[in-house]
Amino acid sequence: MSADNVYPVPQNVADHALLNRQQYDQMFKQSLADPNAFWAEQADQFLTWFKKWDTVNNSDLAKGHIAWFEGGQLNVSYNCIDRHLEAHGDRTAIIWEGDTPGDTRHISYKALHAEVCQLANALKARGVKKGDRVAIYMPMIPEAAVAMLACTRIGAVHSIVFGGFSPQALRDRIEASECQVVITADEGLRGGKPVPLKENVEKAIDGIAAVHTVVTVKRTGNPVSWSEPRDVWYHEIIDAASTECEPEPMDAEDPLFILYTSGSTGKPKGVLHTTGGYLLQAAMTHRYVFDYHEGEVYWCTADVGWVTGHSYIVYGPLCNGATTLIFEGIPTYPDASRFWQVIDDHQVNIFYTAPTAIRSLMGQGDELVKKTSRQSLRILGSVGEPINPEAWEWYYRVVGDERCRIVDTWWQTETGAIMISPLPGAIDLKPGSATLPFFGVNLELVDNDGNVLEGAVEGNLCITQAWPSMMRTIYGDHERFINTYLSTYAGKYFTGDGARRDEDGYYWITGRVDDVLNVSGHRMGTAEIESALVLHDAVAEAAVVGYPHDLKGQGIYCYVTLMGGIEPSDALQKELSDLVRKEIGPIAKPDVIQWAPGLPKTRSGKIMRRILRKVATNELDSLGDTSTLADPSVVDDLISNRAGQ
Ligand code: WT7
Repeated sequence: MSADNVYPVPQNVADHALLNRQQYDQMFKQSLADPNAFWAEQADQFLTWFKKWDTVNNSDLAKGHIAWFEGGQLNVSYNCIDRHLEAHGDRTAIIWEGDTPGDTRHISYKALHAEVCQLANALKARGVKKGDRVAIYMPMIPEAAVAMLACTRIGAVHSIVFGGFSPQALRDRIEASECQVVITADEGLRGGKPVPLKENVEKAIDGIAAVHTVVTVKRTGNPVSWSEPRDVWYHEIIDAASTECEPEPMDAEDPLFILYTSGSTGKPKGVLHTTGGYLLQAAMTHRYVFDYHEGEVYWCTADVGWVTGHSYIVYGPLCNGATTLIFEGIPTYPDASRFWQVIDDHQVNIFYTAPTAIRSLMGQGDELVKKTSRQSLRILGSVGEPINPEAWEWYYRVVGDERCRIVDTWWQTETGAIMISPLPGAIDLKPGSATLPFFGVNLELVDNDGNVLEGAVEGNLCITQAWPSMMRTIYGDHERFINTYLSTYAGKYFTGDGARRDEDGYYWITGRVDDVLNVSGHRMGTAEIESALVLHDAVAEAAVVGYPHDLKGQGIYCYVTLMGGIEPSDALQKELSDLVRKEIGPIAKPDVIQWAPGLPKTRSGKIMRRILRKVATNELDSLGDTSTLADPSVVDDLISNRAGQ
């Protein structure tokens, strides 16, 4: 091992864990040497199939064709619910912790089955069929999981839109995937404040005739506008429906869900995942990465609006028959001790959250953590962005009392499941490193010309073989799928991330190498924010870059060129900020807006973002070559008018 700070696997942990180092090495080797045998065995072990597959893997990255377990048939809701009923029908499937402390519900697998069937039947009665798209725009309440599972039961494809997105963002997504049904709630509740979900839906679907049904869960009970026959109450339609609904047999390659995510260019992409491979890898990673033992309470603090919520609040845990906790609130309400309080209240064994939350809670002092017990905790997870070693150490020392293993999990919406992570009983930890690849994940670092780099080195992170939970396409635009992911380095999947590999073969993710920002673990394209800014009449041009931000990981720095004759003002700055908020949502609110009379462009008119990033980061002595700029003096102005952060 290298000189880095290393936390070896303690013997008692290795003994208790599902997999130790020897087993990891052996399985990893087999997964690459004989992937078909490996994945067939896993698919048998983790899933229940109505009909076995004909071929395990029929993928060709170079052609952009990905297919796993073709000919096989299964149903996701059956795997996540029905098959657990006989042995564990009374086990709690979902623990719900509401925004208000003490507002909790326990839902057994049996009860979940009944409600999923009811909603599935109700959707069918409204004409929803296999293959139809259903938008879900919900707060973190059990009904969100019920809605997802009800879709899978009848073969409808869900498209969840994060409840923090604006009506405009919701509208774009509903239109792009041609949803005819929206499932929502009257209002969400976060940190004691209502979120007007139904009202947002009204704005989003105004004029879209194709949306024939809006199902609304009564969460707060505050009045909402209503339009019959389109609008139906969730509780009314399920009360009227039968608690039995046959699961639709789905082909392994039938679409399961669409989830929009930001890229470096253009509108958000509808990442499409299919049934068999996705569920297999979600379940398998949930079991091995979190070393999930039967009966344990598992809590992932993500929102179901992100892929983490799909794979690690709902599908992975429920497929494994786990007890999964759904939390409606925020880490700082009623105070910054909430996470630790909830862990004690529900005796949580495995806790999975994001570095941005860890950093902000770290800033509140140790006392808020130390006053709670946290003795139930065994495993702590991190996801969404690189975790800085200081935050890692705090998580380990203060939250985990130096007793818990930390799993820093690297993956993406596109990968469907965790790709790089320690396994608690197998892999020695190094703070800040996601460590080693999961089974079947063949990583490569390449330079900008595509040359494969060996040994301890930094490069662009690629994956050279298809894996079961890989995205299959961008909904409605297969060419964009190929161009975005499979063409930069022909025949390989390019992640968009940079990484360093150390002398022990450990991976250290350095962040995005494209124009994608990671703000508090939320992914955003600079192009999207720029498009929002230029909607304003006063704006001629805008360029957005990220800069290091202590709490958010990255902050949003906007350079704005105004139309001739328009004077900069604080009022205009606020208008622009509000505009971005309205177009995308509060998560995209600019941190800095700098007025820029000109942007640094090459003679061919391309904006040199490298320079903008350097100015935003205040790395003024490493601007690099500016001689190719059409007008180098632009840079002097940018520097002298640098906005304070
Ligand atoms: C991007 C994917 C899939 C989880 C939620 C985010 C960054 C994710 C890590 C990590 C360093 C990470 C990458 C990746 N990222 N996890 N453990 N260490 N970076 O999903 O919105 O699709 O974003 O998040 O940059 O490409 P996403």
